[in-house]
Amino acid sequence: MPTRKPKVVITRKLPGIIETRMMELFDCCLNLDDHLMSRHELLHHMQSCEVLVPTVTDNIDNEMLEKAGDNLRLIASFGAGVDHINIEKALEKNIIITNTPDVLAEDTADMAMGLIIAVARRFNEGQKLITSQQWQGWGPTTMLGYRLHGKRLGIIGMGRIGTALAKRAIGFGLSIHYHNRNRLAIESEEKLNATYWSSLDQMLNHMDIISVNCPHTPATYHLLNARRLALIPSHAFIINTSRGEVIDEKALLKSLSRKEIFGAGLDVFEREPKIDPKLLKMPDVICLPHMGSSTYEGREDMGERVILNIKCYVDNHSIPDRVLVSMF
Ligand code: 8YV
Repeated sequence: MPTRKPKVVITRKLPGIIETRMMELFDCCLNLDDHLMSRHELLHHMQSCEVLVPTVTDNIDNEMLEKAGDNLRLIASFGAGVDHINIEKALEKNIIITNTPDVLAEDTADMAMGLIIAVARRFNEGQKLITSQQWQGWGPTTMLGYRLHGKRLGIIGMGRIGTALAKRAIGFGLSIHYHNRNRLAIESEEKLNATYWSSLDQMLNHMDIISVNCPHTPATYHLLNARRLALIPSHAFIINTSRGEVIDEKALLKSLSRKEIFGAGLDVFEREPKIDPKLLKMPDVICLPHMGSSTYEGREDMGERVILNIKCYVDNHSIPDRVLVSMF
């Protein structure tokens, strides 16, 4: 019996090798020029395809799912985060959702670690000093930053990425603290020599560095609000490689401009791709364009996970990365 080839719409341009494999396996519609689909165009596809492969840049909300065709059975998202999809509505319509966890944890943890070093040691200001040709030469008290060794890192969200970051941070002499919905198993805690804080407020008040590594869900929206930001010591800084929505960006801007915290390393923003220009002008803030998982290897791994999820769906096998609302 020939294998069934469902109609698959891929909303953004994926690595060539992934698109080619998908063309071999499925009846694919590619986005060759990688344009951002309008709601109208996306809806048009959602009314005709059986499988949609969106990314974080597609907003698949209640209205879109309401108007989607009955033939849409699987949304195999290219990415770990699924906050761009209204999961409850999709499940209500018996649409299966999958994501691509695991494969981007190491790359995102590298980025978080890189930002920790870059903010502590003021890479941004150093680079600007050089490029503006203002550098007057070495000085014993100029461009001083903070030593990492011996400092405390508070990780919010100790999942795959948080754990991968902790492993790296240990190598830099940081001590690991974390806040998570669930405490880790004792063996995992021991391996990382990690201290669990059931109270996020208390952890924030005692850390030198805070890293946001939890997903964006209704429960984590503005988790770091003005009240919590005020608990962070003034020498400490924040790293965010998760989702902008977890931090109240306006409140963060206020804390930074009043020097209530030392700095921030941000790879994600509340209203991407819009960034408050005031944030860009701050010397102790490093902003990156949501590139935490942007490696050649990572993108291919993500594509392979998408293919595996679709293939398992087509072959009626158990689907590895199925997202269930109870996970959030
Ligand atoms: C991905 C991400 O690049 O996977 C995620 O949740 O935030 C990113 O690192 C992006 O989502 C791809 O869709």
